[in-house]
Amino acid sequence: MAQEIPTEPGGGGTASATRVPTTRRRFLRGLLGFSVMSTMAMVFAPVIAFLIPTKTGAAGAGDKVLAGTVDDIPLGQGKVVAMGSQPTIVLNTAQGVIAFSAICTHLGCIVAFDSGSGLIVCPCHDGRFNATTGAVVSGPPPAPLPAVKVSVEDSGEIFLIGS
Ligand code: FES
Repeated sequence: MAQEIPTEPGGGGTASATRVPTTRRRFLRGLLGFSVMSTMAMVFAPVIAFLIPTKTGAAGAGDKVLAGTVDDIPLGQGKVVAMGSQPTIVLNTAQGVIAFSAICTHLGCIVAFDSGSGLIVCPCHDGRFNATTGAVVSGPPPAPLPAVKVSVEDSGEIFLIGS
């Protein structure tokens, strides 16, 4: 049995309750849904992008992964790139281009190069590593950063070599 509702303020007529929602109501619901989804995407997309570094390719044993060019990393600077699923810090030093795992040996945070101090620094507990050897300089890390093999081509392209 269909419920009857008045169609006029005075109660003069009736219509079926199974009536299709008005176009305006549907439009507003769609707009609200779109707004909520857009807001969630704007909030979570940068967080996910930060937590998952950009992949530059596979990194099996002997695989070469392009990390950029010498022009991308000026002398005395460093940058973190993904070698497969492994974040890797690539440094352009006076001794040449070198690379280490960018995963801190303390609790696994991602390290970064600090050009002011010339050290690799972990932001989580202020662990500090030598930017030439990967050795621990100070802080809680129990071991040095593992080295990653690097090859610099004549074109200036920097390749990380999987082990
Ligand atoms: S995780 Fe790097 S110092 Fe603790």
